[in-house]
Amino acid sequence: MLKGRSLVEPEDFSLSEMEFLFSLAENIENDRKYLRECLKGRLLATLFFEPSTRTRLSFEAAMLRLGGNCLGFAEPGSSSAAKGESLADTIRMAASYADAIVMRNPKEGAALLASRYSDVPVINAGDGGHHHPTQTLTDLLTIKRLLGKIHNLTVGFCGDLKFGRTVHSLAKALSRYPRIKMIFISPAELVLPDYIKSILVKQNVEFEQREDLEGSMAELDVLYMTRVQRERFFNEDDYIRLKDTYVLNGEKLSLAKEKMIVLHPLPRVNEISVGIDSDPRAAYFKQAKYGMYVRMALLASILGAVEGE
Ligand code: CP
Repeated sequence: MLKGRSLVEPEDFSLSEMEFLFSLAENIENDRKYLRECLKGRLLATLFFEPSTRTRLSFEAAMLRLGGNCLGFAEPGSSSAAKGESLADTIRMAASYADAIVMRNPKEGAALLASRYSDVPVINAGDGGHHHPTQTLTDLLTIKRLLGKIHNLTVGFCGDLKFGRTVHSLAKALSRYPRIKMIFISPAELVLPDYIKSILVKQNVEFEQREDLEGSMAELDVLYMTRVQRERFFNEDDYIRLKDTYVLNGEKLSLAKEKMIVLHPLPRVNEISVGIDSDPRAAYFKQAKYGMYVRMALLASILGAVEGE
């Protein structure tokens, strides 16, 4: 039962609960009238302490498309956080005005703390370099829809694997599916954190760490590119040195399988050449659209507008 539940980390939902959301998202995509108005009279608070385009707008679009309404802020300077209000107090207030809260915050663990102070469901829209579970729902739905399965796949993650919360969440989530091999491609300074590797070891997931993107291309069913995250670096010189380590262009893509898909949580900076946007394997804009459908499914479920799971 998803009604009333918070989503802080991908593991908060079982595989069958996620499967339920994926089929609901597909029904919503196929029938624009499906679930229309089901959240009439309900309010979603979107509290964004960090910038966002896709996550905030897709949540707001999802809520509006389901007949509900939104309130919130897009940057902390316009909230009383700028006057020193604690996160706990901000959350108590939002929970007394809205039926659910979506929050992005630069501090790891902020979403967990928020869920403990809230009487209404809290959805983590990204907590620092930690997790981004609704991006994971988006990523898994995209893989399922475009490749027809979430098993027996080789998934390459490339770029900033140290700070990339979408990578951490997706790797953890994929470790629960059968026969997924993961290849982590990054410079030595941006390797996957040890705590994620420990989870993969515990789950008996086959994985490798490499620096070479070209040499890995032919093996992959999914290539998950990521941006080197300037905002998480302590030192600008390190960012400048590492930011263009990997640039996916037509030459590199020509080494890939014909049916491989390229995903990216977006925003991209330089790591994917715009020249490959029209390649059928470039799936990142479709992925962003699936994000709205799965967020519609999520909101309808946690607010009790649909039965099941
Ligand atoms: N994928 C993602 O989180 O994008 P935004 O930062 O634009 O929300």
